[in-house]
Order: sequence, then C-alpha cells, then structure tokens
Amino acid sequence: MTNRYYITTPIYYVNDKPHLGHAYTSVACDAIARYMRLDGREVKFLTGTDEHGQKVEKSAKNAGIPPQAFVDEVSEHFREMGQVLQLTNDDFIRTTEVRHRDAAQAMWKRLEAAGDIYLGSYAGWYATRDEAFYQESELVDGKAPTGAEVEWVEEPSYFFRLSKYTQPLLDFYAANPDFILPESRRNEVLSFVKGGLKDLSISRTTFEWGVPVPGDSKHIMYVWLDALTNYFTASDGFWPADLHMVGKDILRFHAVYWPAFLMSAKMELPKRIFAHGWWTIEGEKMSKSIGNVVAPAHLVEKYGLDQTRYFLLREVPFGSDGNFSRRAMFDRINADLANNIGNLAQRTLSMLAKNCGEAVPMRDDSKLLEQDKVLMDLVQVTDVEGAAKARDQMERCKFAEVIGAVLSMASAANEYIDREAPWTLKKTDPARMHTVLYHLAEAIRCIAIMLQPFTPDAASKLLDQLAVPQDRRMFCHLTPEFALVPGTALPKPEGVFPRLMADAA
Ligand code: MSP
Repeated sequence: MTNRYYITTPIYYVNDKPHLGHAYTSVACDAIARYMRLDGREVKFLTGTDEHGQKVEKSAKNAGIPPQAFVDEVSEHFREMGQVLQLTNDDFIRTTEVRHRDAAQAMWKRLEAAGDIYLGSYAGWYATRDEAFYQESELVDGKAPTGAEVEWVEEPSYFFRLSKYTQPLLDFYAANPDFILPESRRNEVLSFVKGGLKDLSISRTTFEWGVPVPGDSKHIMYVWLDALTNYFTASDGFWPADLHMVGKDILRFHAVYWPAFLMSAKMELPKRIFAHGWWTIEGEKMSKSIGNVVAPAHLVEKYGLDQTRYFLLREVPFGSDGNFSRRAMFDRINADLANNIGNLAQRTLSMLAKNCGEAVPMRDDSKLLEQDKVLMDLVQVTDVEGAAKARDQMERCKFAEVIGAVLSMASAANEYIDREAPWTLKKTDPARMHTVLYHLAEAIRCIAIMLQPFTPDAASKLLDQLAVPQDRRMFCHLTPEFALVPGTALPKPEGVFPRLMADAA
C-alpha cells in the first residue's frame, strides 16, 4: 500500500444545475477521501466541471448567453454544491482552464505519436445528450439505448485506433480482476469488449465549443477525450488515480476508452473504476419534465447535511440502484441516527454532566467485569492494522457494510447501558456507575471517530463533547493508548441527531 491516495468524481456537465445524482457521486468520494485521510494517507480528491461539447454549446445558445459566460455561471453552482455538502476536494478543475486545454492537446499529441490517430470521415448516429456515437445495431426504436435522441452525423473526422486495443484491454482486465467494480458491471464491460472494438471518432467539425485539435483547428477534440484527460491534468504528481468513481451510465468511457487512450499514450492506468447505481425519486425517473428533480441544497436544508450524506451511503448497497423517498429517509434517520446513535449519546452525555461533575469519570480497573471488556474489544482496535477490514471495504466502496459495523457497535453500547442501568447504580453502587459511564463515553469516542467520514458534523460535535483534542481523532487513535483520560473536564452536552417528527416526512 502506498501512502498516497488519489480519488476523482466525474466532472459534471454544466448544461444544468446540480441534482441528487451529482451529490451522490460527490458524497461517496468525499466519504472515501475523508476515510483515507483519517487512515493517515496523503489524499488528493478531485472534482470539477466538464464544460465543452455540443450539449453545453446548445444549452448556452438556448439561454441566449455566450458559452464562456454560461459555463462560468453554471460551474459556480457546482462549486456551491461542494460547499453545501462540505466536500473536502483538494482541487476543482474546469475543462475551460488553460492548464486543461494544454494537457488535452498534449494527450492528443501522444496518441498521434503512437501512430494511433488517422483522418477519415464519420457517418453515423450521435446522441448529444450522451455525447456519444452509437452503432445502428445499438439503437432501440430509433433512439440511443439510454433513451437519448440521436441524429445522423456525416463529417470529416479523426479516428483513434481503438480496435487495436481490444486484446490489450482484455489482457489487462484479466490481469486486474478488481479494476472494474462491482463485478456485474465488470462482466458487462467484458462482453462489450469481447464483441470487438471499432475505431473511435475523436474529432468534430460541425461546432466550435471545445479544444482545437493540435495542427488542425477546423477540428474540435471529441468532448470525452478532452474530459477524461482532466484526471491527468490535475493529478499533480498523484497519477495514477486509485479510484475513478462514476455512475453506471458512463462506465464504458472510463473502463474502455480511457484505459485505451492511456495505453496508447504509454501512461499508467488507474487502479480502479467503480460504477454506482442510479436513484429514482419516489419510484420515478428523475427528470425535468416530471418536475421531480431533487436539489442537494433542498435536502440539506430539510433533513440536515449529515442525515442526507448518511442516507445516500447507507440506504442501498453501493453499486445497486436506489429509490429516494421521503418515507425511507425519515425512517432511516430515526432508526439509525436518532434512536441508535443519538439516543446512546444523549443518555450517556447527560448522565456524565449530572453525575460525574462534568468530567470523564473515574473507572475502577480492579473491578472490571467481562461485559466492560467485551464492549472495549468491540469498539477499540488493538493496533492500527486492526482497521484493515474496514479499509479494504472502503477501497471497494462497501459503505453500507462499514457503516453497519459502526451501528452495531452503537447497538451493543445501547444494550450495555440498558443492562448495566447506571441510573440504578447511582443509588446502589456509585463507583460502578462511574466505571460503566466511563466505558460508555469511551465507546462513543471510538464510534464518533469512525463516523467522521460519513456524518462529519455530528461526529465532530460528539468528539468536542468528550473533549477529544483535534489531533487525536484519526484511526490510529482508536487504540487503548488514546482512550479518554478520567478527570478531563467536559463541556455542556448538546443533542446530536434529533428525532424527525412525522410531519417532516
Ligand atoms: N460530464 C460527464 C462525465 C465526464 S467524466 C470525465 C457526465 N456528467 S453528468 O453531469 O451528466 O453526470 C455526472 C454523474 O452524475 C454521473 O456519474 C452520473 O451517473 C451521475 N448521475 C446523474 N443522474 C443520476 C441519478 N439519477 N442517480 C445517480 N447518479 C446519477 O456524465
């Protein structure tokens, strides 16, 4: 394992405002980026906007604004989405930046130097919505398989010798079985490539909004060649990427075209591509015509940031499709966050404030019971490598599993508090009450450290309430060596994860 970790979101088209789908990809990457930092890795987390191509050009035209002014404005909405979701990206790339235009042209020259570009002419179907070429045989009822409208395009075009990479790609997938996840998606890609790849049209002449082809500025680079290169443009010494996170709709571009371009350019390939599923809204496809497009800022305002992030990552196994409903959101927040973690924190912290002089209680180590040790064994790690299982799950985007493990720790702590009943011990055995509350506080410390990637605000509030210093909040601090120190003064408790009332659903 190298100590560096480079993760990317897709760069978002600026034809439209950010919605739940964009937030989903970004939040997933943010959780991984935060996790890797807490695990002591040097992280580069990149996001940004995809600003060229026919689709964006058309949107600007419809809005009656020159393309540059249009993309400046819409790109800003994506930056704002990042602030609303508290994304911790280290960079935000825009493909209209000079650094990117230069990198895209340099990429073109590398493919050219490899002898993989030739001039020809394209005659076939193109879907502007997908920015993709389709074979006649792929069309369904005269439309793209995605449902996008297609138009017939006939123009001079440069081609990339994609066909040449059919076998090298298959060899690469075979040698790197975890390159494409989840497995079901990997199989789709494999059968697509096994069917044989055709050379790919990589320039257009019928519009202007893009990166000019070096040496032939009548041609504009195909927007996907331009866009994919962003991951390299902004890599800042972190190349190759450890993970490109993408939605299932754009897997082919990332798992077939991009590796082929990189092979041709004689550059290293990314380590992994993960394709996540799509959300429907209350059972329906999200679309402007239905009028059910969910704005991330709206969810954050209504349910809270942590709650929104938590729901997206916990509700469905990552990789599967999901359905967003107010009911599911409501139930999930109350069951997992309010009733489990919130309740544990509330009961423990208020007892600490009332009965332990607003300080971490003393524990009597000579009288530890088996159940105390069991709880500690569950929440603490004995050495940093103890976090290895979760680390592997995180690298494979198994968010629901990682979160599930933390929740079962909170359930165990809730069972412990019920069984030990510190409120009764208060009268019968105050020393034991202190010991019990100590273990509960320590359990919350560990749980809060582990929750940080998913619910960063509430986790840091919990750690503040336990007076855990800022520089002791990483996974390496989950060991007993960094356990709470009895006698440490604690601030006033405040609730985290309030219960949602029925009318909020
Ligand atoms: N610009 C390209 C990506 C270029 S990367 C070199 C693009 N942009 S996009 O804005 O259309 O989509 C970005 C991401 O949002 C994709 O990963 C897509 O899967 C995701 N989603 C869009 N709608 C979605 C849902 N309804 N649900 C989940 N994710 C969805 O594609």
